[in-house]
Amino acid sequence: MKNIRNFCIIAHIDHGKSTLADRLLAATQTVTAREEKAQLLDNMDLERERGITIKSHAIQMEYEYKGEKYILNLIDTPGHVDFSYEVSRSIAACEGALLIVDAAQSIQAQTISNLYLALENDLEIIPVLNKVDLPSANPEEVSDDIIDLLGCDLEDIIHASGKTGFGVDKILEAIVEKVPAPKGDPNEPLQALIFDSHYNPFRGIEVIFRVINGEITKGQRIKFMATGKEYFADEVGTLKLNQVPKNKISSGDVGYLVSGIKEAKEVKVGDTITDAKNPTTNMITGFENVKPMVFAGIYPVDTEDFEDLRTSMEKLQLNDASLVFAAESSAALGFGFRCGFLGMLHLEIIQERLEREFDMTVITTVPNVSYLAYTKKEPETAFIVNNPSDLPEPSKLDRVEEPYIKATIITKADFVGQVMSLCIEKRGQITNQTYLTPERVELNFDMPLAEIVFDFYDRLKTVSKGYASFDYHPIGMRTSKLVRLDVLLNGQSVDALSALIHEDNAYTIGKKMCEKLKELIPRQQFDIPIQAAVGAKIISRETIKALRKDVTAKCYGGDISRKRKLLEKQKQGKKRMRQVGNVEIPQSAFMAVLKLN
Ligand code: GTP
Repeated sequence: MKNIRNFCIIAHIDHGKSTLADRLLAATQTVTAREEKAQLLDNMDLERERGITIKSHAIQMEYEYKGEKYILNLIDTPGHVDFSYEVSRSIAACEGALLIVDAAQSIQAQTISNLYLALENDLEIIPVLNKVDLPSANPEEVSDDIIDLLGCDLEDIIHASGKTGFGVDKILEAIVEKVPAPKGDPNEPLQALIFDSHYNPFRGIEVIFRVINGEITKGQRIKFMATGKEYFADEVGTLKLNQVPKNKISSGDVGYLVSGIKEAKEVKVGDTITDAKNPTTNMITGFENVKPMVFAGIYPVDTEDFEDLRTSMEKLQLNDASLVFAAESSAALGFGFRCGFLGMLHLEIIQERLEREFDMTVITTVPNVSYLAYTKKEPETAFIVNNPSDLPEPSKLDRVEEPYIKATIITKADFVGQVMSLCIEKRGQITNQTYLTPERVELNFDMPLAEIVFDFYDRLKTVSKGYASFDYHPIGMRTSKLVRLDVLLNGQSVDALSALIHEDNAYTIGKKMCEKLKELIPRQQFDIPIQAAVGAKIISRETIKALRKDVTAKCYGGDISRKRKLLEKQKQGKKRMRQVGNVEIPQSAFMAVLKLN
């Protein structure tokens, strides 16, 4: 155990975490040149395409230092706020962290939020100034920023480049020298922390864990403490580029486990694995059931595909336990599902996977957060509202609570004014403002989560000309004056277009919504009035003028194949449209409320 080091890499997005991880694997010959592919750890197609790490992974390296052999377990962490609970559990499985800071970008919002997580878990921090090869690198100034943040010495900061490989040997040495060896007792009852799991279509769920105390052996009867479920450890082993089966994994080490578990939801990240016969009395602290933060309706474009969609969702859920869904029906869209996601990125991933892996064409409705409603009749009983149409009548409603977040934004001093106005417009309350350097400011806001779901990121990017980084964490529910904005097309209320918004913004949003929908809904053979309403009150109105559009008119009779092609093209264009009453609504219209500015 004294020769094991468990560490993770924490960084702001794009500061070079994956590139550097690949370098460490190459330097320790964990991968041969032939196996080396760019961004090795990001092995889901989607991850590679988007250049982001969605799921965390672990990999074991062997490293010889001063004549002794060491096992280095690198625990990779996802880089997006939607997956922050997984980040926190990965961090809890380590004794040390490489804190990567881009030598041109310096410290950003995620650098700080991840660092706090690491410090809460008492990790030894090794600061790495990365991308020193960049012509725009500013090592002196960025080193000063790191020293201010960590209170470390200049000599502690390792200069490195994932691109050239510079500094990689120093990083490996520092991991051995500075990261403490794991503590723990192999003779105690088994206590292992689950920090990740994967779905393998042939073997079921593979659980990734770190043993704190005791050991886990092949064939052992084990128990997952949070779910209470028991299994046999059919196979245990360590994670190299491939899995390496072993007879046992002892305290301090990281490994995988296969037990024929079929569904991802049986394995909860943060749960403790123990021995079924001789269980530990202590569950590892910090376990939480991850709750979805954003909800949206997912409907098949073709109503007949509802059962296929259900099957696809069930299959997706087998390997992604954080996806939740329940059947719902919409007067406008028919049968579909109300789905819960960890955040907007997660929503996009699910939508894309449904299309790519299951060949489903779906309509996604306006995302919303989860509200708590209290009625006048029972003002003490919270009633969960995951769909705006479920909000009780205004006359029966006592109050509504919505989730709030604490936001951290780091930006240049020049943009503080604009960033603050944006946050205030988004109902944020400033709680703190710190000048990290004369040019860089950290701002803290309490803000409704719903405002982040709407167009916040894009607006922040625009007002700061790209010089703002942003991170957040939830801080609980607060009462807000919320009303439901309904949209009527051709006099018919379209439930899938309803959204809960703050009373004070109702008029402006209603007006913009009508204007936007006028742009997005194609003209049809009759006038279509668009109205926005709060309760019985119409607050805005636009009209889409009738147009008779005969696409085949151009083909003056003759060429039938050309005519067919045009009709085919028109059919393709219809793919993501839904007929509601006698109005055809494109997918973009369901997202209109997110793009009002
Ligand atoms: P996420 O996984 O999305 O959090 O990103 P990451 O932090 O893993 O960053 P990644 O390794 O994907 O690198 C981001 C970009 O920076 C890529 O375009 C890399 O090619 C580039 N990059 C990484 N390291 C270096 C470096 O040392 N020097 C230079 N010049 N570019 C680098």
